[in-house]
Amino acid sequence: MKVFLLSIFITAIFSLPISSAEQDIKNRQNAMQQVRESIKVLFPMAKGKTEYDDFVAISMLEQMLSAATPYGSYFPKEPEVGVMSEAAETIWTDRSGFEKALAKFLTDIEAAVSAEPENLDDFKPLLADITSNCQSCHQVYRMK
Ligand code: HEC
Repeated sequence: MKVFLLSIFITAIFSLPISSAEQDIKNRQNAMQQVRESIKVLFPMAKGKTEYDDFVAISMLEQMLSAATPYGSYFPKEPEVGVMSEAAETIWTDRSGFEKALAKFLTDIEAAVSAEPENLDDFKPLLADITSNCQSCHQVYRMK
């Protein structure tokens, strides 16, 4: 019992210093990293560098969709100050544009998931639609 209470205590201490702003930033970095992990598998498939596997492709698309779905909720109403983030100010000055860009990204991923692409020819244009969102959103809403 003592050990149990001690472990709760220790967990509480270590989770305290993480502010909600830091948690939001962590969440959105994790989400984008998961998106990138999926793309790392999907892109070589589309290029014919690895063999097309519809089961793997659809699982990766689903992983990307679930990582990206809550993405908008990781951005608070006001921009954070004094934090390490690549989020551009435009997210807050043009929130509706940002939400729209995110919605289009999600729609394109959903379209690919529900198309259940069985072969490479079906898959290629679906992935091209999805990846066109990366740059168009980053250009406006991400600082480099
Ligand atoms: C709707 C806008 C939007 C779309 C679409 C989008 N991103 Fe991002 N991405 C962002 C923003 C904003 C950041 C910076 C967030 C931050 O640093 O707080 C980011 C950051 C990243 C990062 C850096 C994560 C880190 O660890 O700091 C990677 C990698 C990334 N995106 C990959 C992708 C890929 C690959 C795609 C397309 C498949 C994509 N993104 C689509 C908005 C978007």
